[in-house]
Order: sequence, then structure tokens, then C-alpha cells
Amino acid sequence: MQIAVLAGDGIGPEIIAQAERVLEAVAPDIARKSALVGGVAYDATGHPLPQETLELCKQSDAVLLGAVGGPKYDTIEPPDLRPERGALLPLRKHLSLYANLRPAILYPALADASSLKPSLVEGGLDVLVVRELTGGLYFGQPKSNDGERAVDTCVYTRPEIERIAHVGFKAARNRGKKLCSADKANVLETSRLWRSVVHEVAKEYPDIELTDMLVDNCAMQLVRNPKQFDVIVTENLFGDILSDEAAMLTGSLGMLPSASLGSRETATGVFGLYEPCHGSAPDIAGKGVANPLATILSCAMLLRYSFGRDDAATRIESAVSAVLAQGLRTPDIASVGEPTVGTITMSDAVLAALSA
Ligand code: IPM
Ligand code: MG
Repeated sequence: MQIAVLAGDGIGPEIIAQAERVLEAVAPDIARKSALVGGVAYDATGHPLPQETLELCKQSDAVLLGAVGGPKYDTIEPPDLRPERGALLPLRKHLSLYANLRPAILYPALADASSLKPSLVEGGLDVLVVRELTGGLYFGQPKSNDGERAVDTCVYTRPEIERIAHVGFKAARNRGKKLCSADKANVLETSRLWRSVVHEVAKEYPDIELTDMLVDNCAMQLVRNPKQFDVIVTENLFGDILSDEAAMLTGSLGMLPSASLGSRETATGVFGLYEPCHGSAPDIAGKGVANPLATILSCAMLLRYSFGRDDAATRIESAVSAVLAQGLRTPDIASVGEPTVGTITMSDAVLAALSA
């Protein structure tokens, strides 16, 4: 049993160090091996995803990632050596991480942080975006740009849609039993195929209420009445956009974890890559104020999905709720005038809550 730990850039190393303390506390028997990724890997080796990093990931049961990228690396030429295109997307593709789970949860203690009126989020918000992660416009061929004409290609195949639809239906089954499939079937052929395949798969899940929604309407409904949603399943680019929107409704981007699950089964679950939804936050890197909770919560998802350790996962989640209830706030989740704590103090509190 082994986790590959890729701290990456910006605040990545600071938050990963704290997440590792949590893993050491709840799962000391799982080995952790670190490797370089992103800009730091580019600086050290000339490539943002060195071969040995990819190998380590392939030999592990799960990957814990901090964040990659930063202004220093935005101008690297060719662009395929920049952290996002040279590390993040290839990791997804090479590790077949086709199912991206992005829970957007509003913690009752943070209700003030939501960008929506209190009446719309009262009692909390809990929407799961299931984003297809290895198809669509991100990876379709051909791709080209000669300075006059640029091409991206959107491709989806039936098996690609079937497998992500199953993930969406199964997730809904464990939650509120409602699945909304977002597409653009009034315009796109890939969306028409998407819709018909999702409906075929739906026959295996008669207990789940399926609705189709055009993605533009879905974006609107998310701010109009977010509580109508339980699980949203959608293709790669739509999921990129909708998951940011859903995350912001909770006002706590610094709180949100994510899982990218692959098709490879491990002895105890499914191989996956886990990372906070926020990025490398170069503006606050090195200042000791980054919120470690999204990464700590990503460890909970890791233990649940890749190691079948639901108990340990729930312990972490309860500890995080407890420190929020105690009133601890890093600057990103503090209301105006509220006292704040740094990365380490927040993590100390989580560890204390874990052993309480
Ligand atoms: C995300 C990010 C990435 C994406 C970028 C950095 C390539 O926005 O994980 O949502 O578009 O998938
Ligand atoms: Mg995004």
C-alpha cells in the first residue's frame, strides 16, 4: 500500500506537509513516497512531469497532489512544457483518471461566506459535480493553431459516456438519488450521443431520478436555486466551468477537495488522484496562511475511495467540521474583522480534534 505525494508549486508544499501529518495520524501504515511535479519539476529536470514521477504514480494505489503552476511558468515555451499542459493533463490521461468528483459543500459554520442570499443556501448546500476528465475538447484530435486558424476537436465515444454515467448514477444512489445530466444537445452531436447513452444507462438505475438540462440553463439554475441539485454529471469542459461555479456558491473554495478516479482497481478500492480544488495561490505562497483543509479533506476522499477506509475518512471530515465549529478561520474563510489563524495552527487543531 502506497501513496505518491506530489506537493508541486506555490502553496502546494505547505498544505501537503500538513495533510501528511493527518495521514500519519489516521493511516500510519500506508507508505508515502514524494516526487516532483509542476514548475519545481521543470526547474529541476526540464520537464513538469518527469518519467520517474509518472512511474511512481503508476506503482502507487493513490496520488496526493498539492497544486501546480504559477506566474513564473506561464510563459514557458513550448506551452506543452507548462505545468498545466505538461503535467496536469498528461497525469489525467496517462493514469486514465476519467471521473472527477468535485463536491461543493457549504459548511453551516461558513454560511456567511456564500455569494448567494442566505435564504438560498439556508441549511447548507451539498452538490456533487461529476466531471468527465479524459475526453472532449481537452484531448480530441486534431488540435492545431497556425496563427490564422485554430482547431480543437470534441470527441466522445459510447464507452466513455457509459462509464462516467455509471459513476454519476452510483454517486446519486449513495446520496440524494437525483442525477442531472448537463449537455448542449440542442447544438452539439457529442451532446446528443451523451444524452442518449445516459438514458440507456439510466435503465439500470430505476431508483434514481434523472433529468437532462442544457448547460447554459444549468449554470443559471445553479445560482437561481442551487438546492434543486444533488449530483450533476457532465462532460469535460462543461464540468470545468460548472464545478467552479458550484464551488464559489459555497464561498469556500479553500475548503473543497476533489478526487479523480481511474479505471484501475487496487487491492482496497480504485486508483485515484486527490487534490484540493484551489490552485497554487502564488500570491500567498510561503506566508503560512494557506488553508490546509481542502487538502486534508482530499485525504479523506483518498482513504475512502482508494483504500476502502470509510471510518478514517469520516474521522477526518468530523475533525474538520469540529475546528470550523470552534471558530478557527484561515483568512480565505474569515468574515471581515474575524480573527484568523495560519496553516499550521489550523492543522494542529485538526490533529487535536482527531485525537479528542
Ligand atoms: C481544473 C483546472 C484545469 C482544467 C486547468 C488548470 C488545466 O481548471 O482542474 O479545473 O481545466 O481542468
Ligand atoms: Mg477548472
